[in-house]
Amino acid sequence: MSFEVRCWECGKVVDDPYSDSCPDCGGLLDLGNDRSELKGLTPYELRRRPIGVWRYAPFLPVREEKAVTLKEGGTPLYDCRSLGGIVGLKRVWVKYEGANPTGSFKDRGMTVGVTRALELGAKVVGCASTGNTSASLAAYAAKAGLDCAVVLPAGNVAAGKLAQAVFFGAKVIAIDGNFDDALRIVRELAAKRYLYLLNSINPFRPEGQKTVGFEIIDQLDFQVPDRIVLPVGNAGNIWSVYKALIELADIGWIDRMPKLVGVQASGSKPIVDAFKAGKSDFTPVCKPETVATAIRIGNPVSGKKALKAIYDTGGSAVDVSDGEILDAQKILGRAEGIGVEPASAASVAGMIKLVQTGSIGRDERVVCICTGNVLKDPDIVLKSFGKIRPVPADFESVKKIVAPYD
Ligand code: F0G
Repeated sequence: MSFEVRCWECGKVVDDPYSDSCPDCGGLLDLGNDRSELKGLTPYELRRRPIGVWRYAPFLPVREEKAVTLKEGGTPLYDCRSLGGIVGLKRVWVKYEGANPTGSFKDRGMTVGVTRALELGAKVVGCASTGNTSASLAAYAAKAGLDCAVVLPAGNVAAGKLAQAVFFGAKVIAIDGNFDDALRIVRELAAKRYLYLLNSINPFRPEGQKTVGFEIIDQLDFQVPDRIVLPVGNAGNIWSVYKALIELADIGWIDRMPKLVGVQASGSKPIVDAFKAGKSDFTPVCKPETVATAIRIGNPVSGKKALKAIYDTGGSAVDVSDGEILDAQKILGRAEGIGVEPASAASVAGMIKLVQTGSIGRDERVVCICTGNVLKDPDIVLKSFGKIRPVPADFESVKKIVAPYD
């Protein structure tokens, strides 16, 4: 699909492909797509192709023939009857993004972003990350034969994610600072052209991430849910889902918008604070803290876009404590057999909270997007469940545990 990169705030067309903000007003960038090219396209035609990011190629701004792909997307939408029973909702679905090739939703954005990097002739790609972006970028850079540098907050990246970035051959740089510091540094490196930046501030990333919105609607046979609930960190994903819905509404494939609900951790909730105050901009949180390290972000770069997505759909923003996040993670695992990392469990925790406070009605049809796999952060699971102590290697010792009352 043909497109223009434009400033989201003042509308200026930005030609420099390395820019990550408007040279005039400093605003965020966005892709203006020429939707007239979608005229005549039907869901039926799309469905001839396997489900996944590239089923929606007509909505994407890069050429599919050149795609750097690991067959991302096409993740399950689980109909969660047990979870619904526990929380008191008739219909709840979990969109399980942990089933992506590197175990998180980031792969949707990276297939498009890295394809764009190749189109531009970039040699080095890079990002700041709380972990998943770096794991994903490292894999796609490996596939594309590009060098990759990732800058991470030292001591605050889950083991699985760190291992992936190292494994796929990225230069891994840990800084004594948080994600917001890391992003500031890589943006400067990108401005000086040492690397092509692939954080979600790059407007090609949300284009790929849009496809989670397409898939949810597609998997529900175009029956629009009442709400889509998702975690918010740097705020690229909620914007991407909003964009997908706008595009589907624009071409007449859906006739109403689901309410978008953004969930943040209580120690890191600038968007929730802004929403509660009715503001369209937010005040950064200086020292964000949460067990959900993936969303430990105080200055979300797409925060203003997130607020627009929430207001325009009549949605809301809610924060949840670390305890509520870990409880939700456990409920999902034990009731549904779905393993998610803490940041992903935040969406379920937020949904539970909103049902309990009556903000979500019991008849509503709710989709929670669970963004990353439980294996990303094994330490947190093992910490919650205590040490496993070895027993002697004999039948009786093991039987005593398997059948204690026999
Ligand atoms: N869930 C997970 C598992 C994440 O890794 C992230 C973000 C989010 C939710 C929030 O998404 O930033 O689009 O609002 N992780 C980024 C990273 C920041 O570096 O991996 P967002």
